[in-house]
Amino acid sequence: MKIIDGKQIAEVIKGEIRVEVAKYIDDYDVAPHLAAILIGDDAASDTYVSHKEKDCKSVGITSSIYRFSTDVSEEELLKTVDFINDDDDVHGLIVQLPLPKHINVDTIISHIDPKKDVDGFHPLNIGKMMLGHPAFLPATPAGIIELLKRYDIETSGKHCVILGRSNIVGTPLSVMLSRKSKHGNATVTLCHSKTQNIKEITLQADILVAAIGMPEFVTADMVKPGAVVIDVGIHRVPDASLQAGFRLIGDVNFAEVSTIASFITPVPGGVGPMTRIALLQNTLTAFKQIVRLSS
Ligand code: GUN
Repeated sequence: MKIIDGKQIAEVIKGEIRVEVAKYIDDYDVAPHLAAILIGDDAASDTYVSHKEKDCKSVGITSSIYRFSTDVSEEELLKTVDFINDDDDVHGLIVQLPLPKHINVDTIISHIDPKKDVDGFHPLNIGKMMLGHPAFLPATPAGIIELLKRYDIETSGKHCVILGRSNIVGTPLSVMLSRKSKHGNATVTLCHSKTQNIKEITLQADILVAAIGMPEFVTADMVKPGAVVIDVGIHRVPDASLQAGFRLIGDVNFAEVSTIASFITPVPGGVGPMTRIALLQNTLTAFKQIVRLSS
């Protein structure tokens, strides 16, 4: 069994991005700039956004955070999106999800300029992705494809089973893996909460992706020996023996499944760091497309 070291791959790509950003700063005195809108005081969202800020800083990308309290109106958010859309010095814009219940997420996301939609959530980018046209790809599926690529894991003709049909992971990943492309061409089964006989299906998977949001849902008896297992889940469990008071686990029972998988992503250090990198890559792409400097 081989561990897919997302952390190490992410560091390599980060180095590449850092060099490219430094070149733009040296040659043209401009840096890519990512803006994030953060609403409310959800601890997880706060952590994600501060990670994104730290990642940007580590590669020379400028970042700014627009913070709002939970009771912010949709109108005020739309105004802020407009303001950032019109700001020529900002190249990427993300709205951290989830949003409070009184805000319509589709309204907000559809309002982002698709050229700055580095999360790849705007309907135009999703449509382009569906058609296989160049588009901003959502960070987690893009990060997973990058890991498969860097570990030379063949997808063509393989049966990929994805657990979870979310708009930001399972559904776009099912499209990307089944597309006629070098790192696609897979036969994909997308399982969800209404899927029957899930174990019968997962046992057929050459590549199994768990993005179901249930701690240690995937156990060894659900995995074909030699399968590649990608764990998208991240959950905190209390652990008094650790200084932090908790440890992180995924949607896969790592101790069991790692004994039969050919490749497996750990949690933490697997998909997570790659998701963070994909956002930086998209921000750099948006910058280059908007600013149009010769490289
Ligand atoms: N919430 C959970 N994942 C994401 C993500 O990738 N982007 C945004 N904007 N919000 C999220």
